[in-house]
Parts: sequence; C-alpha cells; structure tokens
Amino acid sequence: MDRTIAINVNRLCKTYDSHKAVDDLSFSIYAGEIFGLLGPNGAGKSTTLRTLITLLHPTSGTATVMGHDTVREADTVRTLIGYVPQERAIDRFLTGREHLQLLGALYHLTTDEATKRINELLKLVDLEDHADRPAKTYSGGMKRKLDIACGLLPNPKILFLDEPTLGLDVQSRLRIWEYVRMLKARGMTVVMTTNYLDEADQLCDRLAIIDGGKIKTLGSPVELKIALGGDIVSLTLKELDRIPSLETELKGRPAIKSVRTTTKGLDIRVESPEKALPAILEATNRLGCSIEFIQYNRPRLDDVFIAHTGRAITESIPETESAS
Ligand SMILES: Nc1ncnc2c1ncn2[C@@H]1O[C@H](COP(=O)(O)OP(=O)(O)O)[C@@H](O)[C@H]1O
Ligand SMILES: [Mg+2]
Repeated sequence: MDRTIAINVNRLCKTYDSHKAVDDLSFSIYAGEIFGLLGPNGAGKSTTLRTLITLLHPTSGTATVMGHDTVREADTVRTLIGYVPQERAIDRFLTGREHLQLLGALYHLTTDEATKRINELLKLVDLEDHADRPAKTYSGGMKRKLDIACGLLPNPKILFLDEPTLGLDVQSRLRIWEYVRMLKARGMTVVMTTNYLDEADQLCDRLAIIDGGKIKTLGSPVELKIALGGDIVSLTLKELDRIPSLETELKGRPAIKSVRTTTKGLDIRVESPEKALPAILEATNRLGCSIEFIQYNRPRLDDVFIAHTGRAITESIPETESAS
C-alpha cells in the first residue's frame, strides 16, 4: 500500500467551555486507505472530522491535509475534500438531481461539467431512476446515497463520511460499504466515523478507537485483534490421557503462544492459525491423539473495544466522565 501521508494530526485539542471534546489526538492517515474513527456517541468523532475539514478551529494542536494546514490554508484544503455530514440539512422538496445541480453551482462547475458529473454520480449511487422526484419521498438509504453523491460532486481526493450508515437497514448499509470500497479502488482516501463495530471491522483498513476525546488504540482490525493476545484453537480429544503429552509437545513451538489444559482437551493460543494449525495437526497425528472436535475462536472487535475502554460500545458514558 501507498504509505504517503494524506492527513497528519498533531496534538489536536478542541475544548467547549471547559469540556475537552477532543483531547490531544495525534495520528496519521495514509493516502488511499479507508480510515475509521470508531467510538460511542459523544466520543469526539464528529468534532475531529469537522476540524479536519476546516469547519472548526482547534483549541490547540494542528492538522494538515495533503500537507496543508487546516487553519492557515483552509481554502486549499477545501479544494481537496468532500464531506458527507452526519445529518445533512438539505431541502427535501428538491429532487435528487436538483440538489446536485445546486451544489454544482456552489462549486462553480460549468453547466456541461455539472450535467456530466451529476449523471455519473446518479449512476454510481443507483439513483438514476429516482433522480427527478423530490428527495423527501426517498427512503433513508436513498437519502444517504444522495448525501454521498453530494460529497463526491467536487471530485475530492479525500472523502469524509460522518456515520455513513447510521440508522440504515442491512441492505442499504451493505450497498454503502460497496460504494466506499469502490471509491478506494479508484484511489480515493476515505475518512469515516462509525459507532458500528462490524462496519469498522469490515470496511476500514485502519481505525482508531476513540473514547472521551482520546485515542485508545489504533491499527488495522486484524492487528488490534492480534494485539489482544492471539486466537484460540480449542481441541476436544477422544483420549483424555494423552492431553499432558500433547501439551508438552505443543508448548514452545514458534506459532504457539500458550497452551492450557481444559476438562476435554486443550486451549491453544496461536498467533496465526495458518502457521499453528498444521503444527497442531501434525503433533496430534504423531502422538496418535484423535480429535473429536476442533473450534477456532478469533477475538472480535467487540473484545478489542472492551479491552481498551473498559466497556461495551453500546453502554453509555458514565455521567462523571463527560463532566470532567
Ligand atoms: N458545538 C458544541 N458545543 C458544545 N459541546 C459540543 C459541541 N459539539 C460537540 N460537543 C460535545 O463534544 C463532545 C463530542 O461530540 P461529538 O464530536 O459530536 O461526538 P461524536 O461525534 O463522537 O458523537 C460531546 O460531549 C458533545 O456534547
Ligand atoms: Mg458524531
């Protein structure tokens, strides 16, 4: 992957009265990746995003977008980005096409340019057949598609999506994920927020877990899960008397982190199943152990979130925390 830095955030803080909405964030986003800010409501995701897109000035710290400071060079930054807000205040009486035409005028596109791009975008988000009826008659998923088309109209290098699938049904969510992947395939950098673990897990190349305005951990979904201490292969063995010798055999092998005896077999913590499974099967064969059952548990992003924040993402933030 291209390791060019698209966005750099350095000790970013945003304080409202005495409340630190964003508290000393530092991270980089690479060109061409889908980067996610994952956190519960009130974590500071939208505030961070709005700072990056020049809508908010940091209380302290800096952010650059493709090398341009979001405060001093806000005008340049704005030419590079597209933004899909969490809630777009658009006039739902206009048709989908009229929304895009209005925006095209705001971006000073020529009529020909605008018509061409609008047709392309309506096709991209599957709204061609609905382009000429009022947006207020659209379903939630269709409105969101229109929002995304609006964000893409200026042909941005970087697209910012704030909670792109909030409140959508499963089908519409999958569709939006498809668009985001397609944009990445076309070379776009995508920065998104979400409070859906599955969305962060399946869509983001890398993500930062943000809670109470702070980054708790950052990495690819796989890295974050591995950092928890590896996956577990649980073996249920037919001959229970062979458990100790198998344990001795497996302990200390390179792909195996730890081995623990259970009532029916062994729980084996492994770094990567690709390397560990052949070793485990080879050892059981050689010792003549018959496996009755084998189960493989991968830590989920839920486990990662809990490990770093001390609670599940769906649990609300304690009152004391938001007041401090
Ligand atoms: N304009 C504002 N004025 C005062 N407080 C705000 C403002 N915007 C956000 N906050 C507070 O900052 C914190 C982070 O908000 P936000 O960035 O919207 O979180 P998220 O997008 O993760 O839900 C919350 O406690 C929120 O109440
Ligand atoms: Mg938000």
